[in-house]
Amino acid sequence: MQVTPSGQGLGARVEGFDVSKPLSHEDYKKIESLLGQYGVLCFSKQNLTGAQLKDFSSKFGTLEVNVANMYQEPGHPEVMILSNKKVDGKPIGLGDAGQDWHTDMSYSKMIAFTNVLYGIEIPHRNGQPLGSTEFSNMRAAYLALPEELKKKLDGMTVLHDFNKFWENMRKQPGCTRPPLTEAQRKAKPPVSHPIFLTHPITGDKILYANPGYSIQINELPQKESDEILNFLFAHQLQPQFRYQHRWTAGDVLMWDNMGTIHNAVADYGPDEHRFIKRCQVMADRYFPLAA
Ligand code: OGA
Ligand code: MN
Repeated sequence: MQVTPSGQGLGARVEGFDVSKPLSHEDYKKIESLLGQYGVLCFSKQNLTGAQLKDFSSKFGTLEVNVANMYQEPGHPEVMILSNKKVDGKPIGLGDAGQDWHTDMSYSKMIAFTNVLYGIEIPHRNGQPLGSTEFSNMRAAYLALPEELKKKLDGMTVLHDFNKFWENMRKQPGCTRPPLTEAQRKAKPPVSHPIFLTHPITGDKILYANPGYSIQINELPQKESDEILNFLFAHQLQPQFRYQHRWTAGDVLMWDNMGTIHNAVADYGPDEHRFIKRCQVMADRYFPLAA
C-alpha cells in the first residue's frame, strides 16, 4: 500500500490495494491503523460488486441494515444505494443522505465505526466533480479547544437525537420526508455519550458532538448548554481541520465515524446523476458492552 496524505486537516489516498480481494489480517490491521491516523481513506481505481463491498466492510464490525429497509442491493440488504437517479419515475436510492454536518449513528446506543462508500457515478459540471463529501477532524478540534473549556466539559455527556436531523431535513425545499411518527420516535429515543471520547484505535481524546444530532449537554442548564453547543459546532468546522473529498468514479471512501464529522454537499441537480453503494459498520468490536 502506498499512502499519500491529503495535506489537509485529515484524509489520505491509498494506492496499490485491491478492495475486492479477501482481506488478510495484516492488511486489516494496517487499514485500521491508517483510519485512526488519517480519519478518511480513499482507495482509488476500484472495481467491486456489492457483495465484495459487503465482504470487505464486514471485516471491520457488524454491518447495519438501514432502518428504512429501502434502496438496498438485491440479495444484500447491508448494501445501501445512495442516488438521485430514478427508474420509471421512482427513486432507486436515498437521494438526500447526509446533507448536513453529522456523525453517523451518534443517536444510537451502539455508535458507528466506519462507513465504506463505493462511488460508481459521480456528477460533473464543466469538467468538475460535484457532490463532494466534506470531513472535519475531531481530534484536532479537541486539541484546539480552550483549556478552560476542556476542563469544564471533561466527564460530561451529550444527548443525541435522530429526530433533530430529520426535522432539519424537512425544512429543506422539496423535501418529501413526513414527520417521524410517535412509534418511530419511540423506536429511536435520544441517547447520551461522553462529550470527549477516547478513540479506541489511537487512544487520543476526540470531541464527540455534531450539529446533526447533538441536542443537549446533560450536565448543564439549557441556556448554557445551547451556548456551548453552538460554540462547539462553529469551532469544529474551522478550515484547518477539514478535508473535502472530490469524488472520482471507482473511489472506495472509508472514514472513521468516531474521530470525524462529515457533510454531503448537495450542489448537483436532479439530472446530474450520483450513484454510490454504501455499507455502515458499527463500533461493536470496540464497545462490546453497548451491543
Ligand atoms: C453517509 C453520508 C455522504 C455522501 O453515507 O453516511 O453521509 O456524500 N454520505 O454521500
Ligand atoms: Mn453520514
